[in-house]
Amino acid sequence: MQRKFGKLFAALACTLAFSAPVFAAGKTYQVATDASYAPFESMNDKKEVVGFDVDVLTAAAAKAGIEVKFINTPWEGIFATLATGDRDIVASAVTITPERKQTMDFTNPYFDAKQLIAVSGSSKVAKFADLKNLKVAVQTGTTGDEVVQKLLGKTNPNIKRFESTPLAIQELLSGGVDAVVADNGVVTNYVANNKGAKLKTIDDASFAKESYGFAVHKGNADLLAKLNKGIAAIKADGTYDKIYKKYFGK
Ligand code: ARG
Repeated sequence: MQRKFGKLFAALACTLAFSAPVFAAGKTYQVATDASYAPFESMNDKKEVVGFDVDVLTAAAAKAGIEVKFINTPWEGIFATLATGDRDIVASAVTITPERKQTMDFTNPYFDAKQLIAVSGSSKVAKFADLKNLKVAVQTGTTGDEVVQKLLGKTNPNIKRFESTPLAIQELLSGGVDAVVADNGVVTNYVANNKGAKLKTIDDASFAKESYGFAVHKGNADLLAKLNKGIAAIKADGTYDKIYKKYFGK
């Protein structure tokens, strides 16, 4: 009797030990991304989320042995989806900032960025300070919004806030604002692919260096460790460089 139980128990323990990791690997992590931010994230003709962030996170996840699914998610409220549990990861060209670190955890940086100004080709604006008394469009709650707030004042009606960066750029094209301030990669990409819009870009030495990270729910140390391991692995084996080249050339 005793022996029989022992065997049964051993068999059961064995099954559990082998199936538990299989269950864990079966989880698909839901990824929030505001897919209106090419070349980092956008929707293709097949309504799939594509871009640099998608390639980097997918490759890192593969190294970590986890699965990810990208879901187009509005920028406004995107971080709240981690708290509610609707999403596990935010991959959306998110700048790691001290304020954001209070409410969520970030992976190690995977991309360097800074702000860049876009104005019409005929604009007299030559530096950031020249925007002081002009109308400026930004995407609500982005680091671009924060930078412009510092110059114009948080409640200045000359700051026109939009739910996406393409909408902010649209406002510049239609003459509603004098400038757009947004991440350099996105502004450069737009200007290069829309030569007809006749925009020019202005860099400013006062803009701080920013780093993108993937965000997870505060305290999700297990997922964070997996993602950091994956990021380190794709940086070490050349996968990251390949993806970088695909989107940004050398
Ligand atoms: N890097 C900026 C920030 O974190 C802008 C990110 C906007 N991303 C997006 N997919 N719309 O505030």
